[in-house]
Amino acid sequence: MPDPTEQGTSEDLHEVTVVVNGVARTATVPARRLLSDFLRHDLRLTGTHVGCEHGVCGACTVLVDGEPARSCLMFAVTAQGHAITTVEGLGTEESMSAVQQAFTECHGLQCGFCTPGFLTTVTAFLDENPSPTPDEARDAVFGNLCRCTGYQNIVKSVLRAAELREEQQVPYAAEPAQRHTASSVVAEGGSA
Ligand code: FES
Ligand code: FES
Repeated sequence: MPDPTEQGTSEDLHEVTVVVNGVARTATVPARRLLSDFLRHDLRLTGTHVGCEHGVCGACTVLVDGEPARSCLMFAVTAQGHAITTVEGLGTEESMSAVQQAFTECHGLQCGFCTPGFLTTVTAFLDENPSPTPDEARDAVFGNLCRCTGYQNIVKSVLRAAELREEQQVPYAAEPAQRHTASSVVAEGGSA
Protein backbone atom coordinates (compact mmCIF):
# COMPACT_ATOMS: atom_id res chain seq x y z
CA MET A 1 0.00 0.00 0.00
CA PRO A 2 1.48 3.39 -0.94
CA ASP A 3 2.69 5.58 1.87
CA PRO A 4 0.31 8.54 1.92
CA THR A 5 3.05 10.74 3.33
CA GLU A 6 4.90 10.34 0.03
CA GLN A 7 1.96 11.50 -2.04
CA GLY A 8 1.49 14.90 -0.48
CA THR A 9 -1.99 13.96 0.68
CA SER A 10 -3.77 15.41 3.70
CA GLU A 11 -2.50 12.44 5.70
CA ASP A 12 0.98 13.95 5.80
CA LEU A 13 2.25 13.90 9.34
CA HIS A 14 3.26 17.04 11.16
CA GLU A 15 5.00 17.63 14.44
CA VAL A 16 2.87 20.02 16.44
CA THR A 17 3.95 21.79 19.60
CA VAL A 18 1.47 23.77 21.64
CA VAL A 19 1.61 25.11 25.15
CA VAL A 20 -1.23 23.43 26.97
CA ASN A 21 -2.03 24.67 30.45
CA GLY A 22 1.43 26.17 30.67
CA VAL A 23 3.31 23.08 29.51
CA ALA A 24 4.83 22.63 26.06
CA ARG A 25 3.41 19.47 24.48
CA THR A 26 4.46 17.91 21.20
CA ALA A 27 2.89 15.17 19.10
CA THR A 28 3.13 14.05 15.50
CA VAL A 29 -0.28 14.07 13.89
CA PRO A 30 -1.99 14.01 10.50
CA ALA A 31 -2.73 17.40 8.98
CA ARG A 32 -6.45 16.90 9.52
CA ARG A 33 -6.27 15.99 13.22
CA LEU A 34 -8.81 18.17 14.98
CA LEU A 35 -7.57 20.11 17.96
CA SER A 36 -10.24 18.39 20.08
CA ASP A 37 -8.89 14.97 19.09
CA PHE A 38 -5.33 16.13 19.54
CA LEU A 39 -6.11 17.16 23.11
CA ARG A 40 -8.15 14.10 23.99
CA HIS A 41 -6.34 11.32 22.14
CA ASP A 42 -2.79 12.49 21.60
CA LEU A 43 -2.33 14.41 24.85
CA ARG A 44 -4.85 12.39 26.91
CA LEU A 45 -6.55 15.53 28.18
CA THR A 46 -10.05 14.14 28.17
CA GLY A 47 -11.64 17.00 30.08
CA THR A 48 -12.47 18.66 26.78
CA HIS A 49 -15.67 17.01 25.61
CA VAL A 50 -16.88 16.48 22.09
CA GLY A 51 -20.60 16.66 21.41
CA CYS A 52 -21.64 17.72 17.93
CA GLU A 53 -18.28 18.12 16.18
CA HIS A 54 -19.95 20.84 14.14
CA GLY A 55 -19.27 23.93 16.18
CA VAL A 56 -22.79 24.04 17.56
CA CYS A 57 -22.84 22.73 21.13
CA GLY A 58 -19.79 24.40 22.68
CA ALA A 59 -18.79 21.35 24.72
CA CYS A 60 -15.32 21.35 23.15
CA THR A 61 -14.56 25.00 23.94
CA VAL A 62 -11.00 25.72 25.01
CA LEU A 63 -9.10 28.97 25.28
CA VAL A 64 -6.62 29.73 22.52
CA ASP A 65 -4.38 32.57 23.65
CA GLY A 66 -7.12 33.42 26.08
CA GLU A 67 -9.95 33.50 23.56
CA PRO A 68 -12.70 30.86 23.56
CA ALA A 69 -12.49 28.59 20.54
CA ARG A 70 -14.32 25.45 19.46
CA SER A 71 -11.61 22.87 19.31
CA CYS A 72 -13.71 20.67 16.99
CA LEU A 73 -13.48 23.37 14.33
CA MET A 74 -9.74 23.85 14.51
CA PHE A 75 -6.92 21.68 13.25
CA ALA A 76 -4.14 20.84 15.66
CA VAL A 77 -1.58 22.16 13.18
CA THR A 78 -3.32 25.52 13.32
CA ALA A 79 -2.63 25.67 17.04
CA GLN A 80 1.13 25.29 16.50
CA GLY A 81 2.93 27.70 18.83
CA HIS A 82 -0.23 28.91 20.54
CA ALA A 83 -1.24 28.69 24.18
CA ILE A 84 -4.22 26.47 24.93
CA THR A 85 -6.10 26.37 28.19
CA THR A 86 -8.33 23.37 28.73
CA VAL A 87 -10.63 22.72 31.66
CA GLU A 88 -7.77 20.85 33.33
CA GLY A 89 -5.84 24.12 33.38
CA LEU A 90 -8.48 26.15 35.19
CA GLY A 91 -7.97 24.60 38.60
CA THR A 92 -7.87 21.37 40.53
CA GLU A 93 -10.34 19.61 42.78
CA GLU A 94 -8.35 20.85 45.76
CA SER A 95 -7.87 24.35 44.36
CA MET A 96 -10.78 25.25 42.14
CA SER A 97 -10.96 28.44 40.15
CA ALA A 98 -13.70 30.87 41.09
CA VAL A 99 -15.74 29.74 38.10
CA GLN A 100 -15.42 26.08 39.02
CA GLN A 101 -16.28 26.86 42.64
CA ALA A 102 -19.34 28.86 41.61
CA PHE A 103 -20.67 26.10 39.36
CA THR A 104 -20.25 23.70 42.27
CA GLU A 105 -21.94 26.00 44.80
CA CYS A 106 -24.84 26.92 42.53
CA HIS A 107 -25.39 23.46 41.05
CA GLY A 108 -24.60 24.76 37.57
CA LEU A 109 -24.32 21.24 36.24
CA GLN A 110 -26.09 17.93 36.28
CA CYS A 111 -24.59 15.28 34.01
CA GLY A 112 -21.57 17.53 33.48
CA PHE A 113 -21.06 16.77 29.81
CA CYS A 114 -21.39 20.39 28.77
CA THR A 115 -19.56 21.76 31.80
CA PRO A 116 -15.97 21.99 30.50
CA GLY A 117 -17.20 24.20 27.67
CA PHE A 118 -19.14 26.42 30.06
CA LEU A 119 -16.21 26.76 32.44
CA THR A 120 -13.79 27.88 29.75
CA THR A 121 -16.33 30.16 28.11
CA VAL A 122 -17.29 31.81 31.40
CA THR A 123 -13.68 32.20 32.47
CA ALA A 124 -12.87 34.20 29.35
CA PHE A 125 -16.12 36.15 29.63
CA LEU A 126 -15.40 37.27 33.20
CA ASP A 127 -11.89 38.24 32.22
CA GLU A 128 -13.45 40.78 29.89
CA ASN A 129 -16.51 41.64 31.93
CA PRO A 130 -15.82 41.08 35.63
CA SER A 131 -19.16 42.53 36.82
CA PRO A 132 -21.87 41.28 34.46
CA THR A 133 -25.55 41.95 34.78
CA PRO A 134 -27.91 38.93 34.74
CA ASP A 135 -28.71 39.67 31.09
CA GLU A 136 -25.04 39.82 30.21
CA ALA A 137 -24.43 36.56 32.07
CA ARG A 138 -27.25 34.96 30.08
CA ASP A 139 -25.84 36.27 26.80
CA ALA A 140 -22.41 34.95 27.70
CA VAL A 141 -23.57 31.35 27.67
CA PHE A 142 -26.08 31.43 24.83
CA GLY A 143 -23.65 29.60 22.53
CA ASN A 144 -23.18 26.65 24.85
CA LEU A 145 -25.84 23.97 24.88
CA CYS A 146 -26.93 22.22 28.05
CA ARG A 147 -29.61 19.56 27.91
CA CYS A 148 -29.98 19.12 31.66
CA THR A 149 -30.02 22.25 33.74
CA GLY A 150 -32.45 24.67 32.15
CA TYR A 151 -29.73 27.33 32.46
CA GLN A 152 -31.08 29.03 35.59
CA ASN A 153 -28.33 27.66 37.77
CA ILE A 154 -25.72 28.26 35.10
CA VAL A 155 -26.60 31.96 35.01
CA LYS A 156 -26.51 32.01 38.83
CA SER A 157 -23.09 30.37 38.63
CA VAL A 158 -21.77 33.06 36.30
CA LEU A 159 -22.92 35.78 38.66
CA ARG A 160 -21.57 33.95 41.70
CA ALA A 161 -18.24 33.44 39.94
CA ALA A 162 -18.03 37.19 39.39
CA GLU A 163 -18.54 37.71 43.14
CA LEU A 164 -15.91 35.13 44.01
CA ARG A 165 -13.40 36.64 41.61
CA GLU A 166 -14.03 40.04 43.16
CA GLU A 167 -13.44 38.58 46.63
CA GLN A 168 -10.32 36.79 45.43
CA GLN A 169 -9.18 39.85 43.50
CA VAL A 170 -8.63 37.94 40.28
CA PRO A 171 -6.89 40.47 38.04
CA TYR A 172 -8.86 42.08 35.26
CA ALA A 173 -7.52 41.16 31.82
CA ALA A 174 -8.83 43.47 29.14
CA GLU A 175 -6.60 42.12 26.39
CA PRO A 176 -6.69 38.47 25.33
CA ALA A 177 -2.90 38.46 25.11
CA GLN A 178 -2.75 39.20 28.83
CA ARG A 179 -4.61 36.11 29.93
CA HIS A 180 -4.10 32.37 29.72
CA THR A 181 -0.95 32.75 27.71
CA ALA A 182 2.17 30.68 27.92
CA SER A 183 3.75 32.75 30.63
CA SER A 184 5.19 29.77 32.42
CA VAL A 185 6.25 26.94 30.21
CA VAL A 186 7.17 24.23 32.69
CA ALA A 187 8.45 21.32 30.67
CA GLU A 188 7.51 19.18 27.78
CA GLY A 189 5.30 16.20 28.47
CA GLY A 190 3.32 17.42 31.45
CA SER A 191 0.65 15.35 33.10
CA ALA A 192 -2.51 14.46 31.24
S1 FES B 1 -18.20 19.44 19.80
FE1 FES B 1 -17.37 21.32 19.19
S2 FES B 1 -19.05 22.68 19.22
FE2 FES B 1 -19.93 20.73 19.65
S1 FES C 1 -25.28 19.31 32.67
FE1 FES C 1 -25.90 17.72 31.30
S2 FES C 1 -25.74 18.65 29.34
FE2 FES C 1 -25.34 20.26 30.72
